[in-house]
Amino acid sequence: GAAHRYRIALIPGDGIGREVIPPATAVLDAVGRRHGVTFAYDGFDWSCERYAAEGSMMPADGLDRIRRHDAILLGAVGWQGVPDHVSLWQLLIPIRREFAQYVNLRPITVFEGVPGPLRAARPGDTDGGVDLVVVRENSEGEYSEVGGRFGRGTAGELALQEAVFTRAGVSRIADYAFDLATRRRGHVTSATKSNGIVHTMPFWDEVVASRAEAFPGVRWRSEHIDALAAKVVLDPSSFDVIVASNLMGDILSDLAAAVAGSIGIAPSGNLNPEREYPSMFEPVHGSAPDIAGKGVANPLGAIWSAGLMLTHLGHPEAGDEVLAAIRDTVRSGKTLTRDLGGTAGTDELTRAVLERLS
Ligand code: NAI
Ligand code: MG
Repeated sequence: GAAHRYRIALIPGDGIGREVIPPATAVLDAVGRRHGVTFAYDGFDWSCERYAAEGSMMPADGLDRIRRHDAILLGAVGWQGVPDHVSLWQLLIPIRREFAQYVNLRPITVFEGVPGPLRAARPGDTDGGVDLVVVRENSEGEYSEVGGRFGRGTAGELALQEAVFTRAGVSRIADYAFDLATRRRGHVTSATKSNGIVHTMPFWDEVVASRAEAFPGVRWRSEHIDALAAKVVLDPSSFDVIVASNLMGDILSDLAAAVAGSIGIAPSGNLNPEREYPSMFEPVHGSAPDIAGKGVANPLGAIWSAGLMLTHLGHPEAGDEVLAAIRDTVRSGKTLTRDLGGTAGTDELTRAVLERLS
């Protein structure tokens, strides 16, 4: 087909973020060669190290420098000495909000060969296996700046934080989830807590129900988050698409990734579905200070995230090849990192994936 060339902004960040981005770009280049796709990378040193040296996670015009890239690939941010809420609110949250990346997409599957904690969790490419996607609302909800702290240090001290849900915000995330389900197994579970949270959650339920009418081919149900969480552990293969608010989706996707065996494999996309702005792809894991610098980080979460990026850029067959290469590599059981029960390093596991793509 026609040649495609994309400009990608790379933000490796901190800790193992810097170790998993080179494997991801190597895989992009390899799979790109097979599909007439090439990438030009611009690297940015935005990180806690930069914060320590210059007092900010990114320059004042940082967002303008990456606004016209086709996509952003991020490793992980967070390091001791910089409070986690500073690194999050000065880098990731501005990118997600300014670029209207209101969908946080987190596919979760069980791979044959990954020793998961649950005996009942069968591989996702078999009948009745675990293969689900958490669609997390990524721009509003519980992650709000509305509120404050009063009477600091006094006996009467109090903290208030208001969740913000809008009709436009809930509608668009529900639409994304229902539409995604039409291309999967046709089922949506909406996470709620409308028995206890009496204003925002009944509103969420009403808006989701009204959007469901536009997707008559999709079956859906609403479930309270507590029972839903239990079911993710007890019967994970019963889920196809789960749509959830910002906080509930964050917790559920880590839970589901743990059920699948390793946080080191889990990928995510922060999507601007309208494509007015670049979308951002990043592994779910953090900077892992406990293993950083040792060359043992699992690169598969970053590599799969690059695969999601290929699909988003309009090359789903290339994205599928990346996932297949990950699946085959893990199944062979030969070159796994320690988190997967093996002894291989980051480079060795990366080479094994690359061999399957060449
Ligand atoms: P973490 O994900 O960095 O580490 C949790 C555990 O999982 C650690 O034992 C780590 O060694 C292991 N682990 C994580 N990724 C791995 C990989 N690819 N291969 C092998 N083992 C892996 O979470 P933690 O410890 O809560 O956070 C560390 C720092 O990362 C904090 O500063 C936190 O704020 C930040 N963070 C950043 C995120 C992001 O950039 N989106 C997401 C989560 C945490
Ligand atoms: Mg999280």
